[in-house]
Amino acid sequence: MPIEVSSSSALYSDHVNPQWVKLLDVLGMNVRYTRCSGSELFTEDGNCVLDFLSGYCVHNIGHNHPSVVAALKEELDRSGPAMLQSHVPEAAGELAARLCKLAGGRLSKVFFASSGSEGVEGAIKFARAHTGRSGLLYTEGAFHGLTCGALSLMGNQFWREGFGPMLPGAEQIPFEDAQSLEAKLSTRQFAAFILEPVQAEGGIRIPHHDYLQTAQQLCKKYGTLFVLDEVQTGMFRTGAFLAAHHYDLDPDIVVLAKALSGGLIPIGAVLMSDEVYESVYNSLKRAIIHTSTYSENGLAMRAGLATLEVLETDNLGRRAIDIGDELRRQLREALSGYEMVRDIRGLGLLSGIEFQAPSKISLRVAFEAFQRIHPGLFGQMVVMRMFRDERILTQVCGNNFMVLKLAPPLIVEEAQIDQFVGAMGRVVELIHSSSTFWSDALDLARRALNF
Ligand SMILES: Cc1ncc(COP(=O)(O)O)c(C=O)c1O
Repeated sequence: MPIEVSSSSALYSDHVNPQWVKLLDVLGMNVRYTRCSGSELFTEDGNCVLDFLSGYCVHNIGHNHPSVVAALKEELDRSGPAMLQSHVPEAAGELAARLCKLAGGRLSKVFFASSGSEGVEGAIKFARAHTGRSGLLYTEGAFHGLTCGALSLMGNQFWREGFGPMLPGAEQIPFEDAQSLEAKLSTRQFAAFILEPVQAEGGIRIPHHDYLQTAQQLCKKYGTLFVLDEVQTGMFRTGAFLAAHHYDLDPDIVVLAKALSGGLIPIGAVLMSDEVYESVYNSLKRAIIHTSTYSENGLAMRAGLATLEVLETDNLGRRAIDIGDELRRQLREALSGYEMVRDIRGLGLLSGIEFQAPSKISLRVAFEAFQRIHPGLFGQMVVMRMFRDERILTQVCGNNFMVLKLAPPLIVEEAQIDQFVGAMGRVVELIHSSSTFWSDALDLARRALNF
């Protein structure tokens, strides 16, 4: 049954974000979902869409996990002290203890926030307070969030345009380049080097083990805090609780968010060492020197505890590794020989299919025409085909439009992996063999321009 496009977005369009509605309309992805469960999204017209995006790594335990839903109901039913701002929220202590135990190393204190960006803002402030320095180093391709401080740690002009000036002292270095890192760090002006251990929006870029180890050692040598943004990679997404664990790292600060509350309540967490904590909250006068109204709210804390319980009890980290390896094995087999497929890579259940410009002349002409219209057009066509033809939700990486990001819930079933690989094979075949793919794309571009 063809998937039906929603026609009832008027209030949202009038009062929230009309451009978003238009974009979804152009892509044929403005669909009304009535129920979401596990890895499946059910639409009003009776279709079922397989989720391979997970709200950008939010739904690690699947949509509306019954244990998290029950924990939230229980918290509401007990009518406890929510948002008093004048008591000790014990669930926050419980969740912090559990996070620190799972994270290990020197991470022993937690500041709770309500989003990844807010967590990154906290990390910036804590690093500056701890070191007495203002400089901030980040890598090319990074995505750290869209509030002003976090945005200052992202070099892509697309996100920045019109929002400047950025934070002074923030400087970009190439990804995976220890020499550039040392050249900057040796000036001893930098409070923090902040990076994603695996760049998600940058194109599922997985650095070499030695680079991250060297980066950590260099930070130590020059007195700069080593800060890991694990907003997408944390919570067992790559198999380990933190991607840092694959690299035996011992960071000073780690930022978590997204999957931490089971995808139901806004949350963020900044894990840090005692030393960092003590340089910020170092007297009674400064007991709440950095805080945020909703940061330790009971619903988020309960959701966090219930989510960790599911992740650990169901051993979803192990599952992410096994299923992720299997997904990439099957994809490599199915997509080998297609000239536009450049690479298939990933860690755990964070994978990417990198496409490249074709060399065959017939394909190249069409591809280059696309690139001239918009560099993201080819990727969006793949996303649209996967959605409309195959009922699978995916997206390209925000800072690399040629990489299709694959991040299903960690509970994804083997049959759903098979379903995805079959679908991807058909779409890649269509790209290489049929003019329909390219003519539809030009039609889409025309419609987008007419809006
Ligand atoms: C690695 C990373 N850091 C930070 C953020 C910002 O998180 P939020 O959107 O919750 O503010 C994101 C969002 O996608 C992210 O991918």
